[in-house]
Amino acid sequence: MANDKTDNNDCAAYFNGQYMPLREVNISPLDRGFLFGDGIYEVVPVYKGKALGGVQHWQRLLEGLNSVDIPLDLTVQELSNIAQPLLADNEPAQMLYVQITRGVEAVRKHRFPVDAKPTVFMFSTPFTPPIDMSYPGCDAYFQQDLRWQRCSIKSISLMGNVMSYMQLAHDGVANSEALLVRDEYVVEAPSSNLFIVKNGVIFTPPVDNILAGVTRKIIIDLAESQGIPVKQLAPTVEQVKQADEVWVSNSFEELKPIISIEGEKVGVGKPGPIWQRLLSSYQRLKQ
Ligand SMILES: Cc1ncc(COP(=O)(O)O)c(C=O)c1O
Repeated sequence: MANDKTDNNDCAAYFNGQYMPLREVNISPLDRGFLFGDGIYEVVPVYKGKALGGVQHWQRLLEGLNSVDIPLDLTVQELSNIAQPLLADNEPAQMLYVQITRGVEAVRKHRFPVDAKPTVFMFSTPFTPPIDMSYPGCDAYFQQDLRWQRCSIKSISLMGNVMSYMQLAHDGVANSEALLVRDEYVVEAPSSNLFIVKNGVIFTPPVDNILAGVTRKIIIDLAESQGIPVKQLAPTVEQVKQADEVWVSNSFEELKPIISIEGEKVGVGKPGPIWQRLLSSYQRLKQ
């Protein structure tokens, strides 16, 4: 996740019951998060000390942990209380990173049962939302979706996602977006959800085997509350190419317009009017 140039090492952190600067966090090399990528994470956007979609982020975290049998004995409220000292009322925007792993085992082994207590780690860092009304738009390229088959789980094992960005970098377009294709349908981007607009109707893939983005849900609710129809259907590659507008959403980039795909313009090749409307509604939620 890109963010401001602030050295993250100076940020406030929480680690297994204690608060400390991030640089003082001492994670065991035997932590299963480190050895196996055996953990779940969240990224929560915070504006002036207040999380946007906080409850949804905590719930998704608990659901993810539950689906992989990591036994965390904390409620949404308790998690939120732990995070509170990391959040600052006087910071315009912060990203709260949360990672829970299965914990440290004395012996490295694949098999269960695992004799470990979950590792609970959080840190917050200031950031500047990178997209505003003056944002000129981003280019995108289709890629085959190489990720695992349980993409609704926000696993810390992100090699498939990393390889998408690696491919963009190898192709000399590191700052472009990848649009991930499964069987002719475009389902997601490596770190964001997909939306297209055609003839005034918004289409977004259903959350069957993609991450149920908190920003995605906020955008759907905003659109519907303004009478803009939303259909939860995955578009084909051809439908994405023919769309009037294409955007991707996540907690950090909020709503990012795509203005070209494979070198061809999306619509008129500029961020569109429905994007403008929804991005400005989203900004109002931060106040
Ligand atoms: C694969 C993927 N899809 C979608 C999202 C968007 O989720 P959210 O809006 O909750 O940040 C993310 C965020 O990291 C992601 O990694």
